[in-house]
Amino acid sequence: MTPVRVLAVASEVYPIVKTGGLADVAGALPIALKAHGVEMRTLMPGYPDVMRLLGGADEIRRWPDYFGGPGRLLAGSHGGLDLFVLDVPHLYARPGNPYVTTEGFDWPDNGVRFAALSRVAADIGHGLIPAFVPDIVHAHDWQAGLAPAYLHYDGGARPGTVMTIHNMAYQGKFAPQLADAIGLPLDASFDVHGLEYFGGISFLKAGLQLADRITTVSPTYAREIQSDEGGMGLGGLLRERADVLSGILNGIDISVWNPQTDPHIAYRFSAEELSFRSANKAALQQRLGLDPRPDALLLGVISRLSWQKGLDLLLEAMPIVLGEGMQLALLGSGDADLQDRYQRAARVDQGRIAAVIGYDEALAHLIQAGSDALLVPSRFEPCGLTQLCALRYGAVPIVSRVGGLADTVSEPATGFTFGPVSSENLSAALRRASFAFHDKAAWRQLQLTGLATDVSWRHRAGEYVALYRSLMASRRP
Ligand code: ADP
Ligand code: GLC
Repeated sequence: MTPVRVLAVASEVYPIVKTGGLADVAGALPIALKAHGVEMRTLMPGYPDVMRLLGGADEIRRWPDYFGGPGRLLAGSHGGLDLFVLDVPHLYARPGNPYVTTEGFDWPDNGVRFAALSRVAADIGHGLIPAFVPDIVHAHDWQAGLAPAYLHYDGGARPGTVMTIHNMAYQGKFAPQLADAIGLPLDASFDVHGLEYFGGISFLKAGLQLADRITTVSPTYAREIQSDEGGMGLGGLLRERADVLSGILNGIDISVWNPQTDPHIAYRFSAEELSFRSANKAALQQRLGLDPRPDALLLGVISRLSWQKGLDLLLEAMPIVLGEGMQLALLGSGDADLQDRYQRAARVDQGRIAAVIGYDEALAHLIQAGSDALLVPSRFEPCGLTQLCALRYGAVPIVSRVGGLADTVSEPATGFTFGPVSSENLSAALRRASFAFHDKAAWRQLQLTGLATDVSWRHRAGEYVALYRSLMASRRP
């Protein structure tokens, strides 16, 4: 079969820049697709961390004035990923996170910053780089949402376009005047079938309206976002486009998340040596100042602290955690209020609750290897990756029955699930887990069934290939 060439467009890519699961997916999918004959190159902005690694890459294009300052396009590779880097210092050479200032506010020019990324994606789609003319442009989340829009409004021949939603909550909304500054035809595009969204423009809406195909990261989330509530303002559009919308479950990179080779954990283990997990549990308890109790059910949480993740519900369920003699190891950062409340809880119940505020990849691995159960009580969850890592590490997932969590964890086979999402139902799930934990054979069976679950990209990447090929076939004259 002829190879498929795909330009992926993403605002973060693991292991180069990561704030969440989008980076994991953007970093792992191209490698998984290689085995299926897909040549994927990924376009990303040249933030400082990117330039440190790829600053010496080949310059393939230079502009004296790209959206208000000099810019370059570089081509290089890192960790098995083939990358295009858009190096535009006045847009991307800034400290901290890709999206917000060090004080935590959105950069006021985010509209221009990410329009610039999509503009060059569309140009590559039109043949800017003769050595790599893609069959498909695959845009991830709102930051890349204008790529299908530029390709649509530019007119003429163009590659197929796919828009993937990782999270409906982030829609890239801006004032309509921005259209002018970013070279979109406001007259032609400012209606309900174009960029217009409640009187402004939305980059995500543009992508969803104008891409040939839409995917999201689990089948259940694909259904949920077609409702008014789950669609967060875009449910109607998605119902109208249901025939081109599908859900493809995420996988995880099983070489990064491998308990047999993981350099970040205290003791490596396989399914045959599950008892070695107790050494990781002891190391985790020691590291976080938790009481050294092998018999206490140790709950792990690795999460952004935002409304989405439902961690306020866990605070409400804390009497159950403590009453059942459980321990909690939480690693996360985000909302100041949640950070404060968890730190306070950890001070009050030292030895039983530990909260590490921050981002720490090595500790995330140790929590997966050392906690008995991993908790994800999300209000909505497009896919979720930590429960997949947990399955692979023998930490039994306790999750709400929403989105990708519902598609990847099932009770009684691999974990504990609850719904509708409330602190009462979470408490009940915690009680069931506590009861099961004291039956060693039953708990071990849960772990083993989890460890035998395929959480890799192997088959899931095949679903993207099928989508690309069917899109190409449908566009052939
Ligand atoms: P989301 O993308 O909504 O944040 P996911 O579960 O899809 O949620 O992905 C989160 C990713 O980020 C996982 O790889 C998880 O291990 C990682 N992660 C989240 N918070 C932290 C943290 N504080 N420290 C280290 N890794 C984290
Ligand atoms: C988003 C979602 C998460 C998903 C990730 C990768 O950040 O919140 O559920 O796993 O993207 O697709």
